[in-house]
Amino acid sequence: MRLVRLAEPSHKQGRKAFRCGKSQLDDWLANRAGQYRRNDLAQTFLLIDDDQEPPKVAGFYALSSASIHPNDWPEDLRGPRGKNHPLPVILLGQLAVDQAYAGRGHASDLLVDAMHRAVLISEQIGTTALIVDALDRNAARFYEHHDFQQLPGHSLRLLRPLKSIRELMKL
Ligand SMILES: CC(C)(COP(=O)(O)OP(=O)(O)OC[C@H]1O[C@@H](n2cnc3c(N)ncnc32)[C@H](O)[C@@H]1OP(=O)(O)O)[C@@H](O)C(=O)NCCC(=O)NCCS
Repeated sequence: MRLVRLAEPSHKQGRKAFRCGKSQLDDWLANRAGQYRRNDLAQTFLLIDDDQEPPKVAGFYALSSASIHPNDWPEDLRGPRGKNHPLPVILLGQLAVDQAYAGRGHASDLLVDAMHRAVLISEQIGTTALIVDALDRNAARFYEHHDFQQLPGHSLRLLRPLKSIRELMKL
C-alpha cells in the first residue's frame, strides 16, 4: 500500500471503482475530487493497493482550510476561546475506506496521516485544530474513538486541537 496525492488523471479507474458504502463519498471521489483539486478547494490523498491490476483505491481523505467561530470551540477543551475573530482550522472533509479493505486499520492509518500532515501545515501557516464533518452518528463515533470532540450544538462536526495532535505525534 502507498499513499499518493491525487494528481489527475491518475487512478481514474480505481476512483470510479471505489465503494465505501456511502454513495455520496464514492461519487465525490469519482467525480468531484479532481475538480476540487483544480479549483484549490481540497487536496485528496489516495491509499493505493498496487498488488491489484489495475491498482485499487483502498481509501482516501481530503483536506481544505476552514475557520470556526470561537464560541464553537468545545467548552471542556483547553484552547483559544474568548477571542472575537474566526479561528483558522484544517477541515478533513472526507475520509473513507473501500468495503473490501474495511476493518483492517486503514481508516486509522489515514486519519493518523491526516493528523501528521496537519502538524506539518501548522508549521507553515497558523491553524488551531483539525475538524471533521461526519456524515452520520456512526461516522462521528469513529472520530470520537480517535479523541475528536463534538462542537457545541453541532453533533456531526468534531474537532481535535493541534496541541493535542502534536502531543500524540510527539512533535
Ligand atoms: C468509518 C470508516 C472510515 C471506518 O473504516 P475501517 O476500515 O472499518 O476502520 P479501521 O479498521 O481503521 O478502524 C480503526 C479503529 O476505529 C474503530 N472504528 C471503526 N469504525 C468505527 C465506528 N463507526 N465507531 C467507532 N469506532 C470505530 C475500530 O474499532 C478500530 O478501533 P481499534 O484501533 O481501537 O481496534 C469506514 O467504515 C467507512 O469508510 N465508512 C463509510 C464512509 C464514512 O462514513 N466515513 C466517515 C467520514 S464522513
